[in-house]
Amino acid sequence: MAFQSKEDGERAALRLPVHIGIIMDGNGRWAKRRFLPRSAGHRAGASNFRTITRYCSQIGIKYLTVYAFSTENWNRPADEVGALLRLFKEYLEEALRDFMDENIRVRFIGDVSAFPEELRQLIHEVEEASSVKTGMVLNLAMNYGGRAEITRAARAFAQEVAAGRRRPEDLTEEGFAQYLYTGGQPDPDLIIRPSGEERQSNFLLWQGAYAEFVYFDILWPDFKTSDLDEAIRIYSTRQRRFGGV
Ligand code: IPE
Ligand code: IPE
Ligand code: MG
Repeated sequence: MAFQSKEDGERAALRLPVHIGIIMDGNGRWAKRRFLPRSAGHRAGASNFRTITRYCSQIGIKYLTVYAFSTENWNRPADEVGALLRLFKEYLEEALRDFMDENIRVRFIGDVSAFPEELRQLIHEVEEASSVKTGMVLNLAMNYGGRAEITRAARAFAQEVAAGRRRPEDLTEEGFAQYLYTGGQPDPDLIIRPSGEERQSNFLLWQGAYAEFVYFDILWPDFKTSDLDEAIRIYSTRQRRFGGV
């Protein structure tokens, strides 16, 4: 099964998730298997990110959130972090320019203030330039952690209360969600994790409360568009109950 276009009959019969999250994991192991440095795995992973993002946009996904760098990934050796930051810069310059041609709106979720000035400037430029786009929203999770995001949101609300603009009893779940990086966006329906690990690793903790998880024993650089098709097929077979019957 391959989804060639929006008109593809087979896909029309499936339930297409509105919002997909992907934990892009397994780059290091991919490189190790090839006796290459981990940075080569990240390069292959970044290239695949480009392919899969385009594909999601083409088949009509409305929101895609990809986990590129977690708040815990700073714990890696400095040379690996450095290689990742260089790669981000390169990709923001190249791939994101392509995404603009494809009408993809790029947003960043996470504390990007921790990145070097040059990268921050690029992030700002990409967000500005793509803010007029009307197609798929691509959330790039960089220096993102679900706990940090929730803490930041709680702090923002607490500041409103301290300033006398809000009362604690005004806070609702819907209202709180507006303080998250994804405020205004629908929750993820499907979260995909390749690499064989079956855990959330601090990704979309609040938003993923009722997401369907699909795991693959495939390393991210090897994850193909046909695997994404398979994830959507599996998702289609799931019965979502949201606590009901
Ligand atoms: C995911 O691949 C990329 C990042 C976390 C930045 P890993 O680097 O975690 O790859 P493995 O899990 O070590 O194989
Ligand atoms: C999750 O992968 C973070 C990203 C893919 C960016 P990790 O490789 O960092 O997660 P753990 O350490 O296996 O939980
Ligand atoms: Mg990993």
